[in-house]
Amino acid sequence: MRHRDETCAEPLSLRALRVDDSAAMAVVLADASLYRFTGGEPPSVADLERRYAVQTRGHSADRTETWINSIVVLGARQEPIGYVQATIPEGGAPAEIAWVIGVPWQGRGYAARAAALLVEALVRRRVDRIIAHIHPEHAASQRIATRLGMLPTSTVVDGEIRWEVAIAAPATAVSLPDCAPTASGIFDADAGTRPGSTRPGQGAPR
Ligand SMILES: CC(C)(COP(=O)(O)OP(=O)(O)OC[C@H]1O[C@@H](n2cnc3c(N)ncnc32)[C@H](O)[C@@H]1OP(=O)(O)O)[C@@H](O)C(=O)NCCC(=O)NCCS
Repeated sequence: MRHRDETCAEPLSLRALRVDDSAAMAVVLADASLYRFTGGEPPSVADLERRYAVQTRGHSADRTETWINSIVVLGARQEPIGYVQATIPEGGAPAEIAWVIGVPWQGRGYAARAAALLVEALVRRRVDRIIAHIHPEHAASQRIATRLGMLPTSTVVDGEIRWEVAIAAPATAVSLPDCAPTASGIFDADAGTRPGSTRPGQGAPR
């Protein structure tokens, strides 16, 4: 089952990553401009197959982190348009989240909606605090974080500012552009997987 945003003309859903998403996601992630603020470069299909084989394990090797890695899919055809990710450390430390939407689908509120669905899933998992690391010039991600109720902190990691917020009931603190995620439904990111990470916990999406 998956959590769908039924309130929009084009329903947006999140579903758990699969290794066989590699070919479609290589197309979604092919534009070099996606990496302007995070570094990295467009991955090949083989790169993604290797990455997704690890990420779909759903946890770190030492099991100190749970990994959620979800494909953002659009419309009845479930077209992949991006992904969201979260790393949930053992012991109650904040979960780190990130979002990526392919260039052809940007500027339509999809990242904000997908991030809100991810936060709903984290609330259901009893996660009570989230963080994100955002480049100081990355206006779109700052807007998404703001819509989630996040605030910038004084912590800077690899030139990125840590944003943070406590999360409680879904949809209380989240402000959405056009559509609101439904309060019901089950989000199959709960079968989650692992972000591509360069930083302990969760790094910038690659
Ligand atoms: C950041 C990213 C996910 C935004 O995706 P998107 O689907 O275009 O975002 P949305 O349409 O939901 O827009 C979110 C907000 O950003 C604003 N925005 C979008 N593109 C923008 C831009 N180029 N400059 C300034 N603001 C922008 C929107 O107006 C919206 O603001 P609002 O809340 O005031 O209405 C996308 O640009 C991306 O994937 N970038 C590369 C990956 C990346 O850097 N991820 C961040 C890691 S934390």
